[in-house]
Amino acid sequence: MEVKLSSPDYRDCNSADAMDDFMKRISCYQSSYQPLDPDDTDRELSLIKVIDVGRRYLVNKVQDHIQSRIVYYLMNIHVQPRTIYLCRHGESEFNLKGKIGGDSGLSSRGKKFSIALNRFVQEQNLKDLKVWTSQLKRTIQTAEALDLPYEQWKALNEIDAGVCEEMTYDEIKEKYPEEFVLRDQDKYYYRYPSGESYQDLVQRLEPVIMELERQENVLVICHQAVMRCLLAYFLDKSAEEMPYLKCPLHTVLKLTPVAYGCRVESIFLNVEAVNTHRDKPEDAKKGPNTLMRRNSVTPLASPEPTKKPRINSFEEHVAAAAASAAHPVCGPQEVPAQLPGQNLNISHEQS
Ligand code: G3H
Repeated sequence: MEVKLSSPDYRDCNSADAMDDFMKRISCYQSSYQPLDPDDTDRELSLIKVIDVGRRYLVNKVQDHIQSRIVYYLMNIHVQPRTIYLCRHGESEFNLKGKIGGDSGLSSRGKKFSIALNRFVQEQNLKDLKVWTSQLKRTIQTAEALDLPYEQWKALNEIDAGVCEEMTYDEIKEKYPEEFVLRDQDKYYYRYPSGESYQDLVQRLEPVIMELERQENVLVICHQAVMRCLLAYFLDKSAEEMPYLKCPLHTVLKLTPVAYGCRVESIFLNVEAVNTHRDKPEDAKKGPNTLMRRNSVTPLASPEPTKKPRINSFEEHVAAAAASAAHPVCGPQEVPAQLPGQNLNISHEQS
């Protein structure tokens, strides 16, 4: 019922009308749909039947890598109610100096945040909560203040800024002016010399995302670029928007997966911190790229698939944080009916 009530088809309907209409739809489906028959007529089809939301799977003729990844993905997701909390480490010594990267410890306000985070976690009153950090000092020190065991993931480490590690943006602009312009022009694909791009980071985070799908309540204490990637996954943000998502220090984003999307609340824990966000400069928004460094990006095998329009979007959670009020800023979102470019038939069956 919950799935149907939050379906985009029934956005302006009351629950009784929505259920009534849905039951009529089911009878229409029954009059015209035919079950897949992998033992006979559909022998040659690539298909997966998901029975009773994952009690059993029937997989037929998986033919390539992408199809097997889809099967793996479908076998790892679940619909148990749960919450994912995302936040950055407390303010660090490098944050105070405006430096990126490195492995500095927490500032005194950063330590206050870790104490506030402990209080916040206790108030959430969760039965089980897994805590994950990166392997960098600032996330570990933040987790140390919690009365909970935590797990360190190297994959959660901040984007590697290569030759620009431990520099301020002004220092990068002065020492590597071309690099600075290139990054502003295409922040998602730009790879720091001897470092990483956001695109690289997305690939590095894939196992984390898969494990997040498998788990129930999790608090991920991570870093600005990493948090943007995780948030973009759950809120279905484009490669263009993702490197500019606002993930302020000392603010917890509470994500609640629901049918057709993910609800998000932004909770500022009332400990001041520096602002590390840098918007895309106006002149970088104009026109096509003029500079391109060879081997700076990993080419895509195919263009980004066209996405269906979304019902709601993730907006202004930072404004909400400033007002230090927790409120939902994102409602249900539509998911693609079929994964782009794939011919794998996915059928859900209930008995
Ligand atoms: O480089 C470290 C920063 O946390 C990532 O921020 O991608 O906006 O430069 P940026």
